[in-house]
Amino acid sequence: MENAAIHSRPPVALITGAAQRLGKAMTEHLARRGWSVAVHYNTSGGPAEDLVSRLAMEFPEQHFTAFRANLTNDRETDGLLTEVIRKMGKPELLINNASVFDPKKISDTGNAFFDFQMTVNLKAPFILTREYIRHCGQGMIVNMTDTRITSNRENYAAYTLAKKSLWELTKMTAAAYGPALRANAIAPGLTLAPAGKGEEYLRTLAAAIPMKRPGGIQPILDALDYLLKNDYLTGELLFCDGGQHL
Ligand SMILES: NC(=O)c1ccc[n+]([C@@H]2O[C@H](COP(=O)([O-])OP(=O)(O)OC[C@H]3O[C@@H](n4cnc5c(N)ncnc54)[C@H](OP(=O)(O)O)[C@@H]3O)[C@@H](O)[C@H]2O)c1
Repeated sequence: MENAAIHSRPPVALITGAAQRLGKAMTEHLARRGWSVAVHYNTSGGPAEDLVSRLAMEFPEQHFTAFRANLTNDRETDGLLTEVIRKMGKPELLINNASVFDPKKISDTGNAFFDFQMTVNLKAPFILTREYIRHCGQGMIVNMTDTRITSNRENYAAYTLAKKSLWELTKMTAAAYGPALRANAIAPGLTLAPAGKGEEYLRTLAAAIPMKRPGGIQPILDALDYLLKNDYLTGELLFCDGGQHL
């Protein structure tokens, strides 16, 4: 799957939350490597359309289409993959990247907040995995988890629980659906500052991790390349976190 030239058409990747930040960077990266990309978005319609237009001009042999779905709406999540297949063909790669990352301790977590975090971060990837198994049955799923899955700090309680379970889903999928389907995960650490916080915020936190600096996007792109290239890897988790999980 690494080499796009072996396909009669460019291979297709569906990336959720692909209009901004890490999702956008993975979209641009895969485009440079010969992939067509289904750019999923929810509220970032303008950036998604700008991205697909720019990539279509830059890589005219490949296809780029934006797909809107609110992943808190089961019906929209259910229909996303079939819509991508209808317009672009079956994806060889699904990256469950879309996420919400909101702090609350267990004691402050209300039912609706819990459901919201769980739905976007776990249920939507579960539904997309199920649909991918049903409609594609082969290829690779990459789930974006978080280095926080190794800790039990409660400051992002619902988010962390969802990401822990997403890693369990990754292993369950890998165990059940090989060899045709590989499922792997990437656990970023200090990559991009959350909205409203700058680079200084990440640099301060980085003082406590082995590599003593934020990683930026490149380690994630390198991990993605490695997962695509190494077709004996399934049920694998690559920490791109400068050793933070230690
Ligand atoms: N950034 C980091 O340092 C870091 C660290 C650890 C783990 N990660 C993980 O890496 C992945 C990417 O991180 P990121 O910081 O780039 O993500 P992000 O900016 O927080 O979110 C990515 C996208 O998720 C989409 N999204 C949120 N709610 C949605 C909903 N209800 N329906 C559909 N889409 C929705 C948004 O799309 P729209 O903009 O279109 O609404 C958003 O652009 C995430 O899974 C994250 O947990 C990141």
